[in-house]
Order: sequence, then C-alpha cells, then structure tokens
Amino acid sequence: MRVIVTGSSGLIGSAAVRHWDALGDEVIGIDNDMRATFFGPDGSTRWNQSVLESETTNFRTVVLDIRDREGVLSLFEKETPDLIIHCAAQPSHDKAAAIPFLDFEVNANGTLNLLEAMRQHAPNAVFCHMSTNKVYGDAPNELPLKELETRWEYADESDYKGISESCRIDQTMHSLFGASKTAADVLAQEYGKYFGLKTGIFRGGCLTGASHSGVELHGFLSYLVHVAVAGKPYTIFGYKGKQVRDQIECSDVVKAFEAFSKNPRPGEVYNIGGGRENAASVLECIAKIKEISGHEIKWTLGDDNRKGDHICYISDLSKLRRDYPEWDIRVSLDDILRQMIASEEAKLS
Ligand SMILES: NC(=O)c1ccc[n+]([C@@H]2O[C@H](COP(=O)([O-])OP(=O)(O)OC[C@H]3O[C@@H](n4cnc5c(N)ncnc54)[C@H](O)[C@@H]3O)[C@@H](O)[C@H]2O)c1
Repeated sequence: MRVIVTGSSGLIGSAAVRHWDALGDEVIGIDNDMRATFFGPDGSTRWNQSVLESETTNFRTVVLDIRDREGVLSLFEKETPDLIIHCAAQPSHDKAAAIPFLDFEVNANGTLNLLEAMRQHAPNAVFCHMSTNKVYGDAPNELPLKELETRWEYADESDYKGISESCRIDQTMHSLFGASKTAADVLAQEYGKYFGLKTGIFRGGCLTGASHSGVELHGFLSYLVHVAVAGKPYTIFGYKGKQVRDQIECSDVVKAFEAFSKNPRPGEVYNIGGGRENAASVLECIAKIKEISGHEIKWTLGDDNRKGDHICYISDLSKLRRDYPEWDIRVSLDDILRQMIASEEAKLS
C-alpha cells in the first residue's frame, strides 16, 4: 500500500509515518517546514524529518507546499496513493489573526487541493482529514459549568461525557483559524457525501506527544513540559488556570485513522481527544508534572483568556467507539507526561 502523509514532520504526521512504515507500507511525506515560518526557529519540525528518515525503511519526504496546486496534482497523478493522512496546517488559534491570508490558504485551499487531487487521480483511496474542535467555535462554552477547586466542570450530569459531534458549528466565535479549519472540515465532508469518496473527518481535542515542537502559541502540553524542564516562566491565559483540556497521545490518533481506513464511512465526522479519563485543567497538569518529575513551574495568571478559548472541553468519544469498537485510548495522561518529560530532559542534558 502507498500512503501519503501531509505535515509528515509534525506531531501527528510523524506518528502516522512511523505507523505505516512499521507495517511495511510505502510512505511519502509532504512537508515544507512551514511551522518555522509560522512560529520561528523553535517551531521548526526539520529535526523530526531527519529523525524519521533515519528510523524508517520505506519513507521519503517531498518538500512541497500544499498550497501548490499543480505540485499536489502532479504528485497524486504520479504516485496514486491508497491512503492519505492530511495533517499539514497552520495549527494555531491565536496566530491566525496575524496571518489571515496564509492561514486560510494553507488550511482551506491546501485541503481543497488535496481532496481534488484525490478525486482526479486516486478516487478509490481513503482520506483522513485532521480537523479540530475549534470548528465548534466557543459554542461548547454555553454548557452550564460549575467551578471546582482546580477545574471547571460540566454542571449537568447529561454533559458528563463531553462534547459530541452534534454541537453546532455556526453562529459562534471560532477565531480565523477555526473558520479556515471549518471550511476544510466541510469540504472534506462534501467529498464524502457529495462525491462518495472515502473521507473521514477527525475533530481533535488536545493532540500531544514527545515529538511535538511546542511553542507558546501551539502545543499546550508540550510547551508546558518544556518550560517545566527548562525552568522558564509560564503565563496562564485567564479562566483562573482551571480550563480543562482532554489530551490524546498521537499514536492513539493514528490508530483511529487506521480503523477508519479499514472500514471507511464516507464523509463521517468524529470527535477525537483524550476523553474524560485524560482530561485535566492547566493547574492540574502543572501539579501532575511536579508530582511525576519534581519540576516546578513558575507560573503567573494573566487576566485575559484567549479569545473564544474553551473553558471546559472534553471530547465525547462515543461515536468513534461505537463505529470502531477495536479503537480506544491506550496511553494515559500520566504516561503521556512521563514520555514528554523524559524526552525534554534528554534534549537538555
Ligand atoms: N496539536 C493539537 O493539539 C491539535 C488539536 C486539534 C487539531 N489539530 C490538527 O491536527 C493537525 C496536525 O497538527 P500537529 O499538531 O501535528 O501540527 P504540527 O504543526 O506539529 O505539524 C504540521 C506540519 O505541517 C507542515 N506544514 C504546514 N503548512 C504546510 C504547507 N503549506 N505545506 C506542507 N507542509 C506544511 C508543518 O511544517 C508541520 O511540520 C492540524 O490540522 C491541526 O490543526 C491539532
């Protein structure tokens, strides 16, 4: 089988490369290190490209910009992939406001280039689109909440499992990033529903792992572990540090893609995150890092929350578990933190 992975040097893309390479498939990565353009040298994923190329057997990177329509079309014509894992993106909620054209061109137009290349040259392939919970904008904040000592929590028992795919996606504040990703999400659904192609849309909560090139504006847990180990200061943006995120390790995301690829449901949408078991507030993550590693974070609390930021977001995983019962969360939040701390300590030693 031939797999094309976009954003192959990034967090999710690189996990996908490792996974299909280990299965003996041919894997072609598309990545132009645009993360360094978005976030500066600390955000570069070039290091991960080199690691991947040394650790895999049947993988190569094509330095291609997904905005390059002709380049994408001709790659698909030449390679005819069986599976496309689409992870290349401008991934930051806050950054998008400073680079609106670039954000939209990468996230929306880039996705359209890939979907159309698939329709023209690989119509039997499966396409897994990495979307985001920001397509719901701040609608999840409308759920009644109660304030506990270290976190916000849903006040109604019926919301306990978290946000499902039935949450509305319009008439809410998304950020420009949320808007460009919503365009991509809906386009990917249409290539499934309208054209009957095998597209699956995965709306991520907090996706994480040791290979994330975390920066302040993207990669919350990775950046938090980095500042903890490096002894740098950390600013929490509003909500008293009690905002809740559900963390999923990248290999668990890739397992969901694999399950979908074996039994695709065209145009279907799934929420994917750590779910209730892997959910924690910023304050709770800071405490866990200290408990696990002894690293104490010098944090301060800023008054202002990020615009449209979720207060309590937990992905309801029921639909994914129902359609793909072989899939589940395998890596706990504590194990994620252990792996990330060890990797960060190794980088600094
Ligand atoms: N990490 C999270 O918490 C999270 C949460 C929800 C959704 N997502 C989504 O998951 C996907 C992957 O996220 P990630 O955390 O792995 O991001 P990442 O930034 O680690 O990786 C993305 C990769 O895409 C590459 N890239 C960016 N623009 C490109 C372009 N125009 N052409 C070619 N390559 C390009 C970057 O250089 C980078 O290596 C994104 O769509 C993101 O919106 C991520």
